[in-house]
Amino acid sequence: MAYQVQKKPMRRCLMTTQGLRHGDYEWQDPKTEEEVVNITFIDRSGQKVPVQGKIGDNVLYLAHRYGIELEGACEASLACSTCHVYVDQEYYDFLQEPLEEEEDMLDLAVFLKDNSRLGCQIILTKELNGMTLTLPQATRNFYVDGHVPKPH
Ligand code: FES
Repeated sequence: MAYQVQKKPMRRCLMTTQGLRHGDYEWQDPKTEEEVVNITFIDRSGQKVPVQGKIGDNVLYLAHRYGIELEGACEASLACSTCHVYVDQEYYDFLQEPLEEEEDMLDLAVFLKDNSRLGCQIILTKELNGMTLTLPQATRNFYVDGHVPKPH
């Protein structure tokens, strides 16, 4: 499958503190070379997909920009585990400690590993340049219809 930057979808209106809707920031190109954070996704078929992100990008929405099938059923409100990814061990320690809510959701994820994280909780920093994120073979969607994601 050939991956490329997607056409920006219409999104439901969930405002962030910066006045951008969820995912809008990730659709903006880096303004300077210093902002660039290159990472690679490995999709469920094992295909490597290099993508160019930038400091501050949320990995879930960056994946969507490139057409990578990283689901985000609860729109980053920590109410599902469909954005489950495996993080390169060498980059794992550069990530912020998971919130208790993230750990609770990961406990419910299938194919959990020591290097599992929720993609929607990974925000790119310069230290993560070169990181690889692997999608698990499957995710479980136990997200309950009717749940209203909390803005954050
Ligand atoms: S999208 Fe639901 S927890 Fe990440």
